[in-house]
Amino acid sequence: MKVIITGASKGIGSGIAAVLARKGYHVGLTARSQDLLKQMQDQIASDGGRCHIAACDLRDPDQVQAAFSKLIEQMNGVDALINNAGLVIRKDVFTLSLDEWRAMVETNINGVFYAVRVVLPFMKRQGGGHIINISSISGRLPLPGGSGYAATKYAVTGFSESLMQEVRDYGIKVTTIFPGSVDSESHRHDPDENHSWKIKPEEVGVACHEVLNTAPGALISQLEIRPLHRPPQKK
Ligand SMILES: NC(=O)c1ccc[n+]([C@@H]2O[C@H](COP(=O)([O-])OP(=O)(O)OC[C@H]3O[C@@H](n4cnc5c(N)ncnc54)[C@H](OP(=O)(O)O)[C@@H]3O)[C@@H](O)[C@H]2O)c1
Repeated sequence: MKVIITGASKGIGSGIAAVLARKGYHVGLTARSQDLLKQMQDQIASDGGRCHIAACDLRDPDQVQAAFSKLIEQMNGVDALINNAGLVIRKDVFTLSLDEWRAMVETNINGVFYAVRVVLPFMKRQGGGHIINISSISGRLPLPGGSGYAATKYAVTGFSESLMQEVRDYGIKVTTIFPGSVDSESHRHDPDENHSWKIKPEEVGVACHEVLNTAPGALISQLEIRPLHRPPQKK
């Protein structure tokens, strides 16, 4: 299976890429950092996997079109898209700046739309495909101290669940994933914090693999992933 993963330079996206490449998927990775993407590509190649990379800023529709077209050409098609990239700024409404609000809207909402509109025509023509959108628990439950971020993730949820209804009759599956706390850079707010209880990025990768391998006639439209253990109580 040929799958494009956004935000694959680090965090959850790199965990998803590593797991899927190990399982034999042909992966196309994108993010802004060319250097980190190259490191991922070298790592996957040294483990015997197949990987192409194309850097782009998801806030720019022309860059998205160019990077995705390059990946689709290099992989000779696309079967799945995992919209994982996102900007997590956990500030309340008193402290979030205008630029931070705009950056989250442009990355977390517009970026998902730009990516989807490039791959959908291919999937429609081939009569099938799968889009996984990474929302968040913050995209279905209020998040005090992160209202701007929550607003963008609620938008991802609404877009993703509506998209599922729009494209299912073309044989295209859409799954919305709602992770809880995952141990990535964006979730390391306090350097002294214990991170061991959090979901590992690769565990989200395993969930994506399972979602992508449901029976042809079945669709997992929503998947919530929680850490098994609660955070340790602060003394
Ligand atoms: N960590 C959690 O606990 C958690 C929980 C629920 C949901 N999520 C969601 O999971 C996703 C990944 O989060 P994460 O924790 O792995 O974050 P992360 O470690 O900060 O990684 C974010 C990824 O997105 C890419 N990215 C950011 N802005 C971009 C842009 N303008 N254009 C292209 N790529 C961009 C980054 O690459 P470059 O910087 O190289 O561009 C990076 O690869 C996000 O959508 C987040 O909302 C995270």
